[in-house]
Amino acid sequence: MPITTPLTALLGIKHPILLAPMDIIAGSSLVTTVSRAGGFGILGGGYGERAWLEQETAKLKALRAPFGIGFITWSLAKRPELLDVALAAKPGAIMLSFGDPAPFAPQIKAGGARLICQVQDEAMARQALDACADVLIAQGTEAGGHGASRTTIDLVPGIVDLAAGRVPVVAAGGIADGRGLAAMVMLGASGVLLGTRFYASREADGAEEAKRRICDATSGSTVRGIIFDLSRNNVWPAPFTGRCLINDHARRWMGREVELMQNVAKVAADYAAAKASGNFDVAAVIAGEAVGLIHDIPPAAEIVERIAAEAEQLLAGRRNSVASAA
Ligand SMILES: Cc1cc2nc3c(=O)[nH]c(=O)nc-3n(C[C@H](O)[C@H](O)[C@H](O)COP(=O)(O)O)c2cc1C
Repeated sequence: MPITTPLTALLGIKHPILLAPMDIIAGSSLVTTVSRAGGFGILGGGYGERAWLEQETAKLKALRAPFGIGFITWSLAKRPELLDVALAAKPGAIMLSFGDPAPFAPQIKAGGARLICQVQDEAMARQALDACADVLIAQGTEAGGHGASRTTIDLVPGIVDLAAGRVPVVAAGGIADGRGLAAMVMLGASGVLLGTRFYASREADGAEEAKRRICDATSGSTVRGIIFDLSRNNVWPAPFTGRCLINDHARRWMGREVELMQNVAKVAADYAAAKASGNFDVAAVIAGEAVGLIHDIPPAAEIVERIAAEAEQLLAGRRNSVASAA
């Protein structure tokens, strides 16, 4: 029996599993596969590359399943016209992360889309609720990519309590299998949002070498910090830092960020060259703590089905054991 929650009802999906809008990695192919498998694919609008967004949303217009489009809020504020491009594709939802969603909320609602807001603490959750968010994503520090310092197990119940049933809360950060989904449901979440797990899928638009490194990585081999943002001349507003795999470049500069800043011109040039040539000893593979749970690169539909089936079994087992104990 599929897990039904307020989130599955609101978004019209079979499984409470959302694909994170990973900048560039979550293109139309991955979104299409996740949505067709009964999850909710969210296109990675990221920093907002107009030509890419037009090309990918054009491919989604034929998709006969619910999907969303995500933006980095502070970056969208610099190119607000991209919201018109996104809404023209008739997404079921727009997801905003990292910044005040209020300036965009009226247009999103008027465009007929739900507003999903990813938050990292209670103050941001309140801001999102004030902007009439329809779904809150509570993102813990385990998450791949940008985020903040609170852990998923601490943040999710806190945001669930704050939302008090007004909107569904989705858990993000460190979740990669059915145990994670079942655990988050037990914490009161209505579903999960997964990035790193879907990065290591066939349809993700990432380099094969990056996917292989995610599979090979063991638990504890990622780091959250500002090294890769400094190195690519893309410094984020506080409190956001980025999590990626620890590689030679991260090892070289960890604890020496000030020195990196003093040499940033040279470091940035070397970093850009490494990125262009696919040298992941220097260029970052953006990934979260869930890497320790990821050992293969299957089709994304298989990931959705596996996670849903495992969580359904675990939750049913719990219901049965409670019933037999009673
Ligand atoms: C490669 C990668 C790129 C990401 N890019 C974005 C992004 O552009 N916008 C965004 O809102 N979140 C982005 N995230 C964060 C996700 O929204 C999500 O919070 C995170 O992936 C959840 O944790 P997990 O990676 O452990 O599943 C990214 C994550 C990864 C792994």
